Amino acid sequence: MAAVTGAIEAQLTSRPRRWLVTGSAGFIGSHLLETLLRAGQHVTSLDNFATGHRANLDEVRSLVGEAAWARHRFVEGDIADPEACASACEGVELVLHQAALGSVPRSLKDPLTTHRANATGFLNMLVAARDAGVLRFVYAASSSTYGDSPTLPKVEDKIGRPLSPYAVTKYVNELYADVFSRCYGMQTIGLRYFNVFGARQDPQGAYAAVIPRWVAAMLQGEPCVINGDGETSRDFCFVANAVQANLRAALAENPEAANQIYNIAVGDRTTLKELHDVLAAALKKRDASLHLQPPTFADFRAGDIRHSLADIGKARRLLGYAPTHDVRAGVDEAVEWYVQSSRAGR
Ligand SMILES: NC(=O)c1ccc[n+]([C@@H]2O[C@H](COP(=O)([O-])OP(=O)(O)OC[C@H]3O[C@@H](n4cnc5c(N)ncnc54)[C@H](O)[C@@H]3O)[C@@H](O)[C@H]2O)c1
Repeated sequence: MAAVTGAIEAQLTSRPRRWLVTGSAGFIGSHLLETLLRAGQHVTSLDNFATGHRANLDEVRSLVGEAAWARHRFVEGDIADPEACASACEGVELVLHQAALGSVPRSLKDPLTTHRANATGFLNMLVAARDAGVLRFVYAASSSTYGDSPTLPKVEDKIGRPLSPYAVTKYVNELYADVFSRCYGMQTIGLRYFNVFGARQDPQGAYAAVIPRWVAAMLQGEPCVINGDGETSRDFCFVANAVQANLRAALAENPEAANQIYNIAVGDRTTLKELHDVLAAALKKRDASLHLQPPTFADFRAGDIRHSLADIGKARRLLGYAPTHDVRAGVDEAVEWYVQSSRAGR
């Protein structure tokens, strides 16, 4: 995946920078790591393997090659430990902070553990970045911050009440980042991701996101379970778009672009029923003999929002963000990875 647009690549290669990617053994973090190493950058990365996998780091290593991998320093550590954060921030210019426990159901079941990683860990990272003199701190925020606001499309400055402990932690991130920019002069940028998907998104486990979970079910000839009536909709965002947003946010020279929050999505919504069809079509195109079951329906999930659709105008205007993949293009690109990883038993 990890191709970035020509202009960003030129900006990166003209002057290699020193980056920290947290959550690098996870889904989005591993794509950031891969892209930066391919573009000649020096990268420290940190993870505690809470939900990430060594296999993701191994995959990045084999994709970028040993020469690029030699520009990477890995810190195994927990962001709830201030010393691990300080060690990871040493000598770093730009931070892309992704590490968090990213699941609404998990946070409902165990709010303390989610708070420890997502709120305390976030604050530790801000303090460490401030103390290390980091130039800019870009972090993963979340569309869950829109909570119960019914307004569509979602515009950055109009949010509702959070619907889960996870959403509270992600909103707290935004509040802390804003205070750190005003009180300590730090440059922070929050990216409110909307349902990101792609290779290396974990298909296993109780809290797997819908796309990898459904592809895994389809490949095993099992029916996909749709929570609710199938009309629930999301603005699914292929991971290449999220990578682009991070790089643009980190490198933006326009002073107005810093200390802001941005929606990162495509600006297009897909219902769960439509998503099921898109995934089924992509798998059928690959293997016409695949036998697919019709979906089954279960209860709505607690803490879920009904519809989600981003207005991405602010990111377009201030960051120059321009998504390269819609949901179909993203699924077409990711499907081979899903098939291979399912064969490998991951
Ligand atoms: N994937 C999405 O659709 C989505 C949407 C909105 C926001 N986000 C946010 O984006 C970020 C990345 O999400 P992802 O989908 O790649 O999830 P992921 O679970 O694949 O990656 C998160 C990584 O953070 C690591 N981690 C968790 N707690 C940690 C801790 N205490 N110390 C160190 N590392 C820790 C995990 O081991 C994992 O490797 C998260 O902050 C998440 O909340 C993701």
